[in-house]
Amino acid sequence: MIYLDRNENLYGPSPQCFEALRNLGIEELSIYSRDFTRGVKSRLSERLATELNIPEPQILLSEGSEDMLKQAVHCYLGPGEKILCPAQSWWYYQKVAAEVGGETVTYALKEGPDSFTYDVDEIVELYRKESPRVVLIASPNNPTGNSFPDPDLKKLTEAFRESIVVLDEAYWGFADTSNEHIAELISRYRNLVVLRTFSKYHALAGARIAYAAVGASLSRLTRFASRYLGYNRISEALALAALDSPEYYTFISRTMREDRQAYYAFFAQHRGFRFFRSDANFVLVKIPAELKAPLQQYLKNRRIAIKFFSEPEFVDCIRITIGTSEQNRKMLAALGDFLSPSHQGGDPV
Ligand SMILES: Cc1ncc(COP(=O)(O)O)c(C=O)c1O
Repeated sequence: MIYLDRNENLYGPSPQCFEALRNLGIEELSIYSRDFTRGVKSRLSERLATELNIPEPQILLSEGSEDMLKQAVHCYLGPGEKILCPAQSWWYYQKVAAEVGGETVTYALKEGPDSFTYDVDEIVELYRKESPRVVLIASPNNPTGNSFPDPDLKKLTEAFRESIVVLDEAYWGFADTSNEHIAELISRYRNLVVLRTFSKYHALAGARIAYAAVGASLSRLTRFASRYLGYNRISEALALAALDSPEYYTFISRTMREDRQAYYAFFAQHRGFRFFRSDANFVLVKIPAELKAPLQQYLKNRRIAIKFFSEPEFVDCIRITIGTSEQNRKMLAALGDFLSPSHQGGDPV
């Protein structure tokens, strides 16, 4: 089975990560970390603080960004309070808000000919009208793949000073790998949480490890997220090894960008299909409605999983995770066969 349905990084982590696993010993497996005696959470939080140029106390660690998102929302959103989220986005944002009885208000994305965008002024106006307690920004957004350009991000965070602002950068690294904006945003906006994960770019989804950079006013979240007995030392060793192997990740992410272009080129050649440009490791594509059910069956028979949506906004869309080059070739070949004039919509042999 080829899984191109959940935005994992199918190249897997760097060889240094496998080496780190082989080197694990009794220290990581049986002993709690004593890094706190040095006044830091761990070697990982220390390393991230140095790389991002942010004070270590403002780096929080979590079991995936799903976990940190939940902690931030549970920490700040009370029953009946509002959370402002993108309307077309990761379903989990609204689920987490519902867990604490929060009321979700959504802002729209605008569908352009080949990408989604936001109307920043419209979002700010909605913000002023609704006065939400928490605001969520996803950049790049899942499943549309678009990012907020830096000036828009600044404009929004400037306007949202009265709320807790959570910026989800889970898909960081697939378009560019700059980090400077984090220290700048965090020092200027003391109410901001930036979520980053090792699941996507660093291909460590199974290790469940992520971090957040948080503004200085968010001491309640810092206390809420602190752990007395430390963090998962195996996952931390993997994350450190991943940070030690930038060349590997630069190489695979460049290859994925090239393959993303190959998907664009393929869909541009087929009438009735419309792709949306993406900064992430997936591409959203609008397909002719009548092809949805046969394509779903066809790919199932070819043992390839991609995402088909039931949400009304994306009911005619598919989302394809950019896999390894070999997987992408197989996916494109399957699509080509499916769309070839000789194919009658029946089962592939
Ligand atoms: C936008 C977004 N944020 C966060 C996550 C979860 O990442 P993690 O594995 O760090 O929990 C996902 C998962 O697909 C996602 O799409």
